Amino acid sequence: MTPKWLFALEAERAHALVECGLKIWGKLPHGFRLPNPALAQEILGLSLPNPIGLAAGFDKNATMVVGLSHLGFGAIEVGTLTSKAQPGNPKPRVFRYIDKQSLQNSMGFNNAGIKKAVQRLENLPPLPCLIGVNLGKNKDTPLAEALSDYEKALEASLGVGDYYVFNLSSPNTPNLRDLQNEDFVSELFSMAKERTHKPLFLKVAPDMPRDALLVVCERAIKAGAKGLIATNTTIDYSLLPGARTSGGLSGRVLHDKAKAVFAEVAEAFFGKVILVAVGGISDAKEAYERIKMGASFVQIFTSFIYQGPAICRQINQDIVKLLQQDGLSSVHEAVGIGQKR
Ligand SMILES: Cc1cc2nc3c(=O)[nH]c(=O)nc-3n(C[C@H](O)[C@H](O)[C@H](O)COP(=O)(O)O)c2cc1C
Repeated sequence: MTPKWLFALEAERAHALVECGLKIWGKLPHGFRLPNPALAQEILGLSLPNPIGLAAGFDKNATMVVGLSHLGFGAIEVGTLTSKAQPGNPKPRVFRYIDKQSLQNSMGFNNAGIKKAVQRLENLPPLPCLIGVNLGKNKDTPLAEALSDYEKALEASLGVGDYYVFNLSSPNTPNLRDLQNEDFVSELFSMAKERTHKPLFLKVAPDMPRDALLVVCERAIKAGAKGLIATNTTIDYSLLPGARTSGGLSGRVLHDKAKAVFAEVAEAFFGKVILVAVGGISDAKEAYERIKMGASFVQIFTSFIYQGPAICRQINQDIVKLLQQDGLSSVHEAVGIGQKR
C-alpha cells in the first residue's frame, strides 16, 4: 500500500518525493519483477514481458524509468513530452478524491522538453520492459502549426522509443482535442510513418461521440497507426459530484466510461491493430477482463498512486492464476477471447 502520510502532502510534493525514492530504487540491484513466460508476448515485433504498463503522465521526463522497471511494469510510457520545455498550468493542478480512489488533474503537459528526456533515455542500461514515448504539442503552438510540433518531437526522439504515442486527447491543453479529426490524424500518421518504422499509437479521449471516435481511429489506422490506446481522462464531471470544473478525471470514477469506450474500439478494431486499455483499472480481474475484450496490454496510473509500488507485481501474479482458472497457458491466448466467441 501507499503510505498514508504521503496523502497528507500536496499531490505534486508527494510525487516529487516518490520520484526521489524511485531514483534510488533504480540504483538497487533487486526489484519486484516477475518474469513468467505465460505473461510474455511478442507484439508488433516487440517483446513485451507482461501485460501491465504504466500510463503516460507519471514519468513525464523519463527520470524514473529504471526504478519503475524494477517494480515490474511490462511497458513504461514516458511523457507527454513536447518539442519545447513548458511549465504547464498554474498549481495546484492535481487533486485527490481518496474515498473514490480517483484523481483530477489539469497539469497541461508540464515537461522539460523532448531533448532532455531523450538524453536520459539514451543513457539507460538495457531494460526488461518496453519504452513508449508519448508526444504532445506545446500550449503556445497554434493548432495550424501542431503538425510540425509533433514532427519535431518525433524526430528528436526517434532513437529512444520502442513505440510512439500521439496524444491528441488531453483535456488540459486548450483545443488539443480539436485535433481528433479525420484530416489531422491522417496528416499526422502519414508524416510519422515516413519518419519511422516503429509502431505508432493514437491515444483517444473517452468523451467523443462514438461514431466520430471510430472514424478518427479508422483514419489513423489507414494512415499508419498500428495501435490505439483508450482512454485518456474524462471531462464528464457528472461522474464525480463535487468535482472541479477543469481538469481530467481518472481512476475509479472513469472506470465504466473508459471500459465502454474501449469496448466500442475493440469491437471495431480488434484483430486489425494492437489495442491498449487504460482507465480505472485497479486489479487483475479488471485487467484480465480488458485483455479478454481485446487489449494486448493494459495501463494503470491512478490505482498505482493509491495502491503503491507492489500493484504491478500483484496484478501480474493474479493474472497468472486467472489464466490457470480459465485453462489458458498464456496471456496471448486470452487477448480478445471475448471478441472471438
Ligand atoms: C496526474 C496525471 C497526469 C497525466 N498526464 C498525462 C499525460 O501527460 N499524457 C497522457 O497521455 N495521459 C496523461 N494522463 C492520463 C493517464 O495516462 C491515463 O490515461 C488516465 O489517468 C486513465 O488511467 P487511470 O484511471 O488508470 O489513471 C495523466 C493522468 C494523471 C492522473
